Amino acid sequence: MEQLHYIHGTSVSEQQRLKLLNKLTNPPFIRFIDPNPNDTVLELGSGVGVLAAEVAQKLSSGIMTGVEFSEEQLSQCPEEYDQLRFIQGNVHDLPFDDHTFDKVYGRYILEHVAKPDLVIREALRVLKPGGTVYFQENAILNLDFYPECPKFKSLWRKFVELQSELGGDAMIGIKMYYLLKRAGFQKLNLSVAPQNHHYDQPEFHMWVDNIIGNADSAREELVRRGKVSTEEFQNAVEELQQLKNNELASCYFCWNRITGQKPL
Ligand SMILES: C[S@@+](CC[C@H](N)C(=O)[O-])C[C@H]1O[C@@H](n2cnc3c(N)ncnc32)[C@H](O)[C@@H]1O
Repeated sequence: MEQLHYIHGTSVSEQQRLKLLNKLTNPPFIRFIDPNPNDTVLELGSGVGVLAAEVAQKLSSGIMTGVEFSEEQLSQCPEEYDQLRFIQGNVHDLPFDDHTFDKVYGRYILEHVAKPDLVIREALRVLKPGGTVYFQENAILNLDFYPECPKFKSLWRKFVELQSELGGDAMIGIKMYYLLKRAGFQKLNLSVAPQNHHYDQPEFHMWVDNIIGNADSAREELVRRGKVSTEEFQNAVEELQQLKNNELASCYFCWNRITGQKPL
């Protein structure tokens, strides 16, 4: 099965960034998928398992399953119990029978896979008829700061280029309607999850740190491929560090969301 280089990698600092991002984005995401106590739920690319564990807490007779291909990520997952399990597997070729789950969701995964159309078809296959799929994905150029951060914005565009060279798609968030409709999902609904923060909120610092960490996970590869020099990278990050200390600063971003139903 074709597999691409995962742009963020699985270093300890990257795993910490992912946990931080979970803190910021889990509560609204759990409201979005609105699990019922007896749902069977699947997460595609469950990472370090923080979100899956929080969803499992909402279940009584239901079961939350996370599928993830990286052993390093799986080794960080919370302990399994009746309502929570993690399985090593590739989301292009899900190790589940047809019609298994009430809900299948993916968050920050379609941007990283070699064949998003295949992953979406797999989600359709393993859903029960009438079951629902949920995605929350990046269109990472949605990002804006004030005061503006031109050096970081330039680095961010290089990040998009690199992700595409590695076989991923940092702008997949705007393509989901096309992909899900083509796969045969019905009752599609688009929305966004805002991520707007300003200096006076503690989340502002967490969010800017997440963005810096995001870029940092790709630093070596960006420099190795000559997309930025080490100095340009440092200057771009310094711009965001200064933003964090600017009491007049704010930042705007939104995740792109979609839901769809498998035909009955
Ligand atoms: C950005 S993380 C998101 C993790 C989690 N969904 C969350 O929201 O915290 C993406 C995860 O997808 C995993 N991944 C990437 N490609 C995969 C594939 N083809 N099959 C299974 N997991 C994959 C990566 O190892 C990584 O842990």
